[in-house]
Amino acid sequence: MNRVSIFVIFLSIIILSSAAYAGSGSEFISMKTVSDPFSHWKHQKMNKSECDNCHEAEGGKIAGWGKEAAHTLCIPCHDMNEKGPVECKQCHK
Ligand code: HEC
Ligand code: HEC
Ligand code: HEC
Repeated sequence: MNRVSIFVIFLSIIILSSAAYAGSGSEFISMKTVSDPFSHWKHQKMNKSECDNCHEAEGGKIAGWGKEAAHTLCIPCHDMNEKGPVECKQCHK
């Protein structure tokens, strides 16, 4: 491999790794009672863009959103992954 191709490969790696993930909807979603805005895009990326892990059909408002819906959605997945907040004060301060 010559110097030029090594340089081109190196440059490609830099460019590809710096390309920011652009998700759908808002990047962060603020909720009344939750301390930190919900990292929507980061969650989309972790879910490999499978919107229906959280949304019924297309993205948008989640029907009946509130305490029950939120806790049923958010907590079991964190529990299962042993990652992400599961205790009250980690989400509500
Ligand atoms: C880990 C869960 C999760 C995943 C995965 C997810 N969303 Fe969401 N999304 C939410 C939550 C929570 C809300 C806020 C719901 C509410 O307020 O009713 C929301 C709201 C939205 C909204 C409207 C509000 C806004 O400000 O953006 C759109 C549009 C949206 N999502 C699109 C998508 C699309 C498209 C995907 C797949 C690429 C996706 N979402 C994946 C959890 C998720
Ligand atoms: C399908 C799985 C899944 C669902 C549903 C989910 N999460 Fe998460 N969440 C994760 C994982 C996995 C992490 C750990 C990410 C890491 O450490 O890199 C995480 C991390 C977090 C974090 C800490 C890191 C950060 O960037 O914000 C918060 C806060 C959080 N989640 C809030 C929520 C809320 C609020 C909901 C419900 C609206 C929710 N999550 C729904 C999988 C999920
Ligand atoms: C993963 C984050 C998370 C954890 C852990 C969590 N909650 Fe929540 N909680 C939410 C979300 C998201 C909502 C919906 C907030 C909104 O839409 O404003 C909510 C809503 C609520 C509400 C309704 C508030 C209102 O005025 O509408 C109460 C009360 C509440 N949670 C109490 C608790 C308690 C008590 C615990 C511990 C047993 C707990 N939560 C654990 C994320 C969490």
